[in-house]
Amino acid sequence: MSRVADEKVLVLDFGSQYAQLIARRARQQQVYCEIVRHDISAKRIRELAPKGLILSGGPASVYDPSAPRCDPAIFQLGLPILGICYGMQLICEASGGRVAAAPAREYGRAYCEVTAENDLFAGVPPRSPVWMSHGDQVTEVSEDFVPLAKTDTCAFAAVKHARLPLYGLQFHPEVTHTAYGEGILGNFLKRVCGCAGTWRLGDFAQQTISDVRRRVGDDRVICGLSGGVDSAVVAALLAQAIGPRLSCILVDNGLLRKDEAAGVIREFTDHFKTDLHVVRAEDRFLDALAGVTNPQEKRKIIGRVFIECFADEAARIEGARFLAQGTLYPDVIESGGLRDGPAATIKLHHNVGGLPEDLDFELIEPLRDLFKDEVRQLGLQLGLPEDIVWRHPFPGPGLAVRCVGEVTRARLATLREADAVVVEEIKRSGLYRQTAQSFAVLLPVQSVGVMGDARTYDDVVAVRSIDSEDFMTADWSHLPYELLARISTRIINEVQGVNRVVYDISSKPPATIEWE
Ligand code: XMP
Repeated sequence: MSRVADEKVLVLDFGSQYAQLIARRARQQQVYCEIVRHDISAKRIRELAPKGLILSGGPASVYDPSAPRCDPAIFQLGLPILGICYGMQLICEASGGRVAAAPAREYGRAYCEVTAENDLFAGVPPRSPVWMSHGDQVTEVSEDFVPLAKTDTCAFAAVKHARLPLYGLQFHPEVTHTAYGEGILGNFLKRVCGCAGTWRLGDFAQQTISDVRRRVGDDRVICGLSGGVDSAVVAALLAQAIGPRLSCILVDNGLLRKDEAAGVIREFTDHFKTDLHVVRAEDRFLDALAGVTNPQEKRKIIGRVFIECFADEAARIEGARFLAQGTLYPDVIESGGLRDGPAATIKLHHNVGGLPEDLDFELIEPLRDLFKDEVRQLGLQLGLPEDIVWRHPFPGPGLAVRCVGEVTRARLATLREADAVVVEEIKRSGLYRQTAQSFAVLLPVQSVGVMGDARTYDDVVAVRSIDSEDFMTADWSHLPYELLARISTRIINEVQGVNRVVYDISSKPPATIEWE
């Protein structure tokens, strides 16, 4: 675990869908926060020296014998602890209270009435909306606990230990529907835990730059550039840390978006002046993909050829000892309190573009402690242009999985032009940052049309635009009709060989974001 901040708070994850959100909310208040497994030992916590602990919610019932528990010794550490939902039930039960199924499961808005003045609710009105999501609730507290707030259906909406800094909330302060959630979490972090709120991304950048310098010494680092924001931020950070001893490799697989490779090449040669190796490998990739239509087969081929190209080029760079990667915090969290082992959780099919472990390098992953929005902020601070920093995520196998059917040069050219129109129009309408991914898909379907006096039999392009927080679930963007009309007209007029445009109105699940 890192030591990127002087003061930190730990979130013990009991399997909550909101654990990451809690950590982000704390960081938004300038308090560095990390998620750890629910069963982390009290001894380990003492070593990590946090200023406080937050016990997350979770789907289990505390009275179930197999429910996830924490080390009971954590209550003796003298640290402030805030239990949220399941976390509160755990604290109350551990001290002799009772938890039972609520008469009715409660999901959604409730009104919280503060019944006792206290630090946690400082600045919070006597009655305010909160977000509930629970089947169980605390029905009795031991003599040591005092109620702080209630709702119509929940006598113990918030509690506090009479002498120790132990607090519990039945509702979720981390979600925006809880009107004063930010204030309540802030009170816990600052008034109860005594955090000063000194975590700053700028300090993080400086600290990381000096750490990298120390670790790398006089050696050389290789960094793969993909065109995306994560690898660009890693490269920018390393460029500032070790300048000429950074070598970047960009494998141009011929499957990138329009002008994407050129933009990154310009940035890293003209601005950051890095030793950039561009591997022009379009032919190699397209030859290997010839005749292939199966999506997983495409992914495997692209993954294999990428590794070959990267390894060949890396072998030409002398004296490189380190490999820098843009792994982010959500990829590495010792997460899923309910899952086995602290293993990194990386979505399997998203590994395409990754490198095998037997490449003989030591890894440098300077973004391991950051969330995506923090990476973007850092990118801006490091001087990367907005165009790169705010770019939508793009799959490793690139346009190949958006070119449904066979991947040929001609089909890629059609797709690339149509995709550029989608992105340009969405940017022009001011909706680019609001949507999580917007792109075109070329279908393996021809349809009949009429242009001038002639009948056509041309390609169909699907437009996909989604709204999503984490890409695990997504809804199709409810784009204005006028915008859709402009996209459609421009694609049909400007992209040769396309006579029909359709809009994908499927959510994930059950559909996926990509078509392949
Ligand atoms: P799906 O299509 O599974 O996509 O809903 C979820 C997110 O992952 C991206 N994606 C990929 N990224 N290699 C990648 O690096 C892949 O093979 C891949 N497939 C999907 C997708 O763009 C979306 O952001």
